[in-house]
Amino acid sequence: MSFPEEVIRKLQSAERIVVLTGAGISAESGVPTFRDAQSGLWANYKPEELATPQAFRRNPKMVWEWYMMRREMIKKVKPNPGHFALAAIEKKVPRFLLVTQNIDNLHHLAGSKNVIEIHGNIQRTKCFDEDIVVDKWELTKDVPPLCPRCGGMLRPDVVWFGEMLPPGAFERSAEAVRNSDVFFSIGTSSLVYPAASLPYEAFSKGILSIEINVEETPLTAHVDHHFRGLAGEILPQLVSATWLT
Ligand code: OAD
Repeated sequence: MSFPEEVIRKLQSAERIVVLTGAGISAESGVPTFRDAQSGLWANYKPEELATPQAFRRNPKMVWEWYMMRREMIKKVKPNPGHFALAAIEKKVPRFLLVTQNIDNLHHLAGSKNVIEIHGNIQRTKCFDEDIVVDKWELTKDVPPLCPRCGGMLRPDVVWFGEMLPPGAFERSAEAVRNSDVFFSIGTSSLVYPAASLPYEAFSKGILSIEINVEETPLTAHVDHHFRGLAGEILPQLVSATWLT
């Protein structure tokens, strides 16, 4: 794939790059996205049946077991060239922030350092009542297991529909986008707010905006450049064209 000279030059001179990723960047690692009709995680369930506090109160065992199934699946997957390319870009620019909607930990595994997990991390567990992370807990006959501190139910440390984002996560991300030279939106359908509002922080400031996706999204009409294709193919080519030639 060839890239516009404007993009190459801007990336080479960029002081600060901010990237927003969604499930699409993990698709090539074998992690199902949310809205792929044929294989999406929601294909057999409805989000409101699983990823909400109400669903958890209604059927804690089912919700806990669904997340444990996903946790075990995600333990088996590996970062793909798209994740590694972003970790490489972070080393090339003075300031880099990766805001991910993904809870699969793959950006960390690929070596990305400055990451905001705006929807949490499936490998972390917290107490449903205290809303505090629990590092050590025992698997007992109780499903979900119980908090060693207060006896409340444990849950995955991920953001459910209708819940607030981690304190400060959105504000820090929006501030970084507003002060970036280049903003990427990669592998996200741009449908779920407030994460989907982050790109608009770039548009209002005339920051070079780039979308990488296998399809059009509500963002496509607004970005400066839409690169159509697999993130795992486009990103390594962009790194080579910008920093390795
Ligand atoms: P979606 O499943 O909504 O969208 C995935 C996007 O990635 C789609 O636009 C696909 O076209 C694109 N895509 C798929 N494979 C790709 C590839 N190899 N390269 C590039 N793009 C690819 O997932 P998200 O946008 O991440 O929230 O969903 C946002 C949020 O909705 C999730 O974080 C989750 C979900 O509800 C919570 O759980 C709170």
